[in-house]
Amino acid sequence: MNVLPLDTLKRRADQNAYSIDDLDWARGVDFERHFFPEHLTPLSHTAVYAQLGPDERRIYNQLYGQMVNEQFIFLEDRFLVRMVGNLRRSTRLDLPADLLEALDVFVEEEVKHTEMFRRLARLTCPERYERSDYHFLRLGRAEDALLGFMARRPDFFVFWCWMALAFEEKTVDYYRHYQRHQKERPDLPLDPLYTDVHRLHMLDEVRHVQIDHHLIHAFYDRCGALLRGLNVRLLARTLRAYTRPARTNMRIVEDLARRCPRLAPLLGDMKAQLRALGRSADWQSIVYSRKNAPQTFALFDEYPEMHALAGAVLLCYEPHTG
Ligand SMILES: [Fe+2]
Ligand SMILES: [Fe+2]
Repeated sequence: MNVLPLDTLKRRADQNAYSIDDLDWARGVDFERHFFPEHLTPLSHTAVYAQLGPDERRIYNQLYGQMVNEQFIFLEDRFLVRMVGNLRRSTRLDLPADLLEALDVFVEEEVKHTEMFRRLARLTCPERYERSDYHFLRLGRAEDALLGFMARRPDFFVFWCWMALAFEEKTVDYYRHYQRHQKERPDLPLDPLYTDVHRLHMLDEVRHVQIDHHLIHAFYDRCGALLRGLNVRLLARTLRAYTRPARTNMRIVEDLARRCPRLAPLLGDMKAQLRALGRSADWQSIVYSRKNAPQTFALFDEYPEMHALAGAVLLCYEPHTG
C-alpha cells in the first residue's frame, strides 16, 4: 500500500481546499429524482422490492439518502471529531508536530462535512431537520454515554482508528457508485445536489483514509496483546452493527409505509427481508468487502488478530496471508 507522508497530505489539503458555499445550494433538491445509488440501498436487494412502483421506490430512495446524511453527521460530529479532538487535546501523549497538524486539518474538514450534510438535510426536509440532526438514526442514552466514556480515552479505545478507516474508505466507494450509477442507469438520474455533496466529501475522504493508516500505526501498533484483544472485540461489535440492516433501516420502511399506505400490508415482509440481508454474503459483498474497501481489508491482512473478523462478522473476508 502506498501511504503518503503527512506533509504531502497537508500540501494536498491546502491545494484542494473548498468551501461548502461553492455548492449551488440555490438549485435546491429535485424530488423527482433518486438521492442515492439504488444498488447500495438494502431494500432494492429484497424480493419485496419488485412489488414497489416507481414512485414508491423513489420515496424509499429519498428517505434512505436522508438517513445517509444523518449517518455522516453522526460519524463525523459525534464519533470522529470527539475522538480526534480529545486526542489532540491530550497532554498525556507526546505526539509529533506533523501528526498534530494532520489532526487539526482532519477535524476542520470533518466539521465542514457535518455542516454540509446538515445543510443538505435541512434543505431536503426543513420541518424535520431544523429541530434535530437525527430522525432515523437514534442512539440510546446508554450507547451515547458509552461513546462519551470511550472518547475520553481515544488512546486506549483505539478501535476508533480502524472504524475511521472502515467508514471513510466506504465514503469514497459511495461516490464511485454515484459515478457508476450515472453511467449505467440513465433511466434513473440522481439528484445533482446530492451527487455534488458526495463528490466534495469524497475529495477530502481520500486523504483521510491515508491519515487513518498513520493513526493506526501511531496508536494501535503500540498496544499490547491484551489491549489489542479488547479493541478487536469492540471493532467486531461495531462492524457487525454497521454491516447489517437493523433499527435504522426498519424506521425507513415504517416511514415509507406511512407515506404510501398501499405498502402497509407489506411492512412485515419488508422488515423480515431486510433483516435477512444481515445473513447474506451477497449483500455484504456489495456493502462491505475487499472490492469496496480494499485498503481496510489489506490492512486487516497485516494484523493476524484481525483475521478473527472473517466469517462471523465479515462474511466475505478471507484473509490473505504471507
Ligand atoms: Fe467526512
Ligand atoms: Fe473523514
